[in-house]
Amino acid sequence: MKKILVTGGCGYIGAHTVVDLLENGYEVISIDDNSRSGTYLLDGIEKITGTKIKNYNVDLKNFDETRAVFQENEDIQGIIHFAAYKAVGESVAEPLMYYENNLFSLVNILKCAKEFNIPNFVFSSSCTVYGNPDKIPVTESSPTKKAESPYGATKQMGETIVEDFSKVQACNTILLRYFNPVGAHPSIHIGELPLGRPQNLVPAITQCAIGKIQEMTVHGTDYPTRDGSCIRDYIHVCDIAHAHTLALEFLINKKNESACEVFNLGSGNGVTVLEAIAAFEKVSGRKLNYRLGPRRPGDVVAIYANNDLAKSALNWDVKYDLDDMMRTAWEWELKIKEDEELIKAQNAVLN
Ligand code: WQD
Repeated sequence: MKKILVTGGCGYIGAHTVVDLLENGYEVISIDDNSRSGTYLLDGIEKITGTKIKNYNVDLKNFDETRAVFQENEDIQGIIHFAAYKAVGESVAEPLMYYENNLFSLVNILKCAKEFNIPNFVFSSSCTVYGNPDKIPVTESSPTKKAESPYGATKQMGETIVEDFSKVQACNTILLRYFNPVGAHPSIHIGELPLGRPQNLVPAITQCAIGKIQEMTVHGTDYPTRDGSCIRDYIHVCDIAHAHTLALEFLINKKNESACEVFNLGSGNGVTVLEAIAAFEKVSGRKLNYRLGPRRPGDVVAIYANNDLAKSALNWDVKYDLDDMMRTAWEWELKIKEDEELIKAQNAVLN
């Protein structure tokens, strides 16, 4: 059984990927310092798969502690690196915290990959590297633009670091550019747990609908789009997760070549904010309390993916549609309302 190290395995996309890896016969360990996540999702992974994976509560900025995990696990066949801070607005306010956390962590994990000759490495990147594209849908060869935030800059720099590493190390590497991951596992045992007031659209919708926040704002309805609101490519987190398992298989079956591969992970469909809200209202049966507000600084007007390359090279397909995304997101919001106290208690212990 091949052992895979997932960094950020207690987080939203990490946990869903751990489930997919386990269901596809891999052994999985996680490194997660739980600074932005608790162990609630580890419990959820166990409920879905019957497997309680080991999480090393280690800060990847601490090289010695990170290295010790590799010394204890000599048989790691691949690394999937999710662990990073990802709040666009926070990154503007705290740039050094973002550069230190996201880049020091990446360099340390790559230093371990070098020392322990790990043959396969998958990097969690983002469509944010495209900035405001001139032409949509974007392909992997669409020009990347100066990032609109330090968060986006850490993803661009991270891609360069991985590419340069792959030129001098016998390690197969892949960059996966996510569009907008949303929704929850159909079992509703795992999902997104935003810290504080959600900045992202779908958790803002579900928290407004359940009453955690009184009202949500549509950031801008005067854009040059079909209904004036921004266009994004929403993709179910389970489709993203399965793409990671396929990316790993792609690397494992590949001869050792230096070229670093890049793939867009998007549904290929552009959806406006108002269309997303309408889809939520349809599947939840709830009328959303929202107001039309001003544009949010740094927002991209419209972006969605050309995902042909990932579909052909990884033999990947998008299984969940917008209604599935909204339905599972809503069911998850209802579920965590029941477990609110448990989640608070677990986070309090860890942080
Ligand atoms: C989507 C649209 C908002 C909240 C960012 C990162 C990306 C990834 C996902 C980490 C925009 C609008 C939102 C609200 C709104 N991050 N919106 N009211 O900005 O496309 O992407 O998060 O992996 O890398 O760049 O996602 O969900 O924040 O916003 O109108 O209360 O929804 O203005 O048009 P975004 P988002």
